[in-house]
Amino acid sequence: MRYNSHMPNQPARIFLMKLLLTIILGTIFAISQSGCIPGPVAPEHLRILFTTDTQGNFTPCGCSGGPRGGIQARSTAVHHERESAPGAVLLLDTGNFSTGFVTDIERTKAEYVTRAMAQLNYDAVNVGRFDVRRPRGGVLSFNQPGCPLTSAGYTYLNNETAGEEFSYPSSVIVDIDGFKIGIIGAPMDDLDESRLGFENEPTTTGPELLNHMKSIIGNENVQIIILITDNSMPWDNARLTSSRFKLASIIIAGQSAPLNHTESKSGEEISHPVFIPRAQSWGRSLGVLDLEMSRSGGIKSYSLRYIDLNEDVEKDPAFDGMTAEYLAAIDAPATGIPEIAQVGYIGSASCRDCHLHEFETWENTRHAEAWETLESLDRLRESTCIPCHTTGYTASESLPSRMVPYELRAVGCESCHGPGEPHKLFQEWRLYGELTGEDRVVDETDPIIRWPDESTCVQCHIPPHDEGWIYNTKIQRVLHD
Ligand code: HEC
Ligand code: HEC
Ligand code: HEC
Ligand code: HEC
Repeated sequence: MRYNSHMPNQPARIFLMKLLLTIILGTIFAISQSGCIPGPVAPEHLRILFTTDTQGNFTPCGCSGGPRGGIQARSTAVHHERESAPGAVLLLDTGNFSTGFVTDIERTKAEYVTRAMAQLNYDAVNVGRFDVRRPRGGVLSFNQPGCPLTSAGYTYLNNETAGEEFSYPSSVIVDIDGFKIGIIGAPMDDLDESRLGFENEPTTTGPELLNHMKSIIGNENVQIIILITDNSMPWDNARLTSSRFKLASIIIAGQSAPLNHTESKSGEEISHPVFIPRAQSWGRSLGVLDLEMSRSGGIKSYSLRYIDLNEDVEKDPAFDGMTAEYLAAIDAPATGIPEIAQVGYIGSASCRDCHLHEFETWENTRHAEAWETLESLDRLRESTCIPCHTTGYTASESLPSRMVPYELRAVGCESCHGPGEPHKLFQEWRLYGELTGEDRVVDETDPIIRWPDESTCVQCHIPPHDEGWIYNTKIQRVLHD
């Protein structure tokens, strides 16, 4: 038998089969030991860069301790952190890229911020509670090409188009060499303990979010989930809430972390999901989270730090053009600005006539220079700076500087004492009556605020503009002694 002549004899054949079996079993054992199961493998190093609460601040903010942030500084830091990363990099924003105010200027600012985010190649941008303004107003139904907005499956009603519905994609799926990361955005309300729908409130958002997580794991073969949210509960509360979303590996949420906040953990120290406090508001810093992952995407260790985007960070010239365009755009004649009638405000100069002493003590404080401060920084075009550096506006109003009457360009007497016109008239008539004996004051009390309390001050003295507010100390500086 020709063919048989090459066949091994019986014992040799058994030996060969045994050998083959040993090799196969051995290989399977080796594969299972090494964890080298065929299929997507997580990147060994993943760097997550994140920003938060930009609130339309395309240019640096007016924060106490000096202006920070701005797209140009952000870009420099992002490029640096990308280049120095040991492995894959994600760039995320946890929400509130806009203030959500319905004015042309705020819309323009948000448009430029999202344009810049597209240019910086963000992987996902959460739609925060400001961006949709309550009630689920959806003031800004943004659709900026290249800016990957995400909001976990909720539908918003557009105020501007008589309740037309719109929604953003529930998640963004990033594929790193076959390893899929699902990034889900959720506005604050939907994670709020009291609104979770698990316990007290009849909403379904908590379970909806969980369902979406399950669905992208099941249907899209997502290996790990990152939840990004502008949720700003106290940390303990946020940790409790995060524990409800065990399907997520990482949750970036919670209160603005201080600039010097760092954290690093490994092995047993790590709680799941990993809870990461958001960066400072107004886009003042860049969060850098470095992860070491196992092949299946488990987190072996992580370290977190923040980069302070202060004035020492070089402004990326790549955004010079867009910045010039932006400044021109917010300076353009605007329409749709609400008419803010400064009813009864007459300006500090009118008070001077009868209150020279108080005027002089006031003139000695920074309040009198508040407008010049903005002017010296070339920030008069920034509608969000105006309300607190002028008189008679509230921080919720957003308006261009040219609408501020000359007399109200400072934190004047009436910022603390209230509109002065009725008081001036009252006193004038009273003095007139005293002089002429003719009583023209009828049944009226003087409406001026005699002793402004702390609630007056904290209309303006709030973070990030004032980080170290202590009423008892600061009030001393403004008394008219
Ligand atoms: C026509 C003169 C006149 C002008 C203008 C005037 N005041 Fe007066 N104001 C008075 C007089 C007079 C009193 C004292 C009333 C009293 O003692 O009962 C007074 C009292 C006050 C008080 C203390 C109120 C109190 O109950 O003791 C405040 C605060 C005040 N003025 C603020 C202002 C501010 C702010 C302006 C400018 C917007 C202003 N005044 C403009 C005449 C004036
Ligand atoms: C309308 C907004 C506004 C209100 C209301 C306000 N402030 Fe201010 N305050 C400012 C601004 C803006 C500055 C900084 C001005 C600058 O440096 O350009 C400031 C500065 C100050 C300073 C530093 C002053 C100095 O000369 O060093 C003190 C102290 C202060 N405010 C206390 C108070 C107190 C106390 C109250 C309430 C009784 C109050 N402010 C109400 C906006 C406000
Ligand atoms: C919500 C009110 C508010 C808004 C809005 C606001 N500021 Fe201020 N700003 C303040 C207060 C209050 C202070 C005084 C802080 C203190 O006494 O420490 C201040 C102080 C400043 C200072 C002086 C800081 C220092 O340390 O000398 C600058 C500069 C400044 N603001 C710029 C801006 C710019 C630019 C904007 C707009 C991007 C802006 N502010 C918007 C309330 C505000
Ligand atoms: C930052 C807030 C603030 C500003 C701005 C301010 N005041 Fe006052 N003012 C106070 C406080 C607080 C008191 C009560 C304490 C005191 O009497 O000094 C007061 C008291 C007064 C009184 C009553 C004083 C008395 O002894 O009866 C007058 C009048 C007055 N202010 C006028 C003015 C005038 C005029 C200006 C502007 C030129 C002005 N204030 C600006 C906070 C302010």
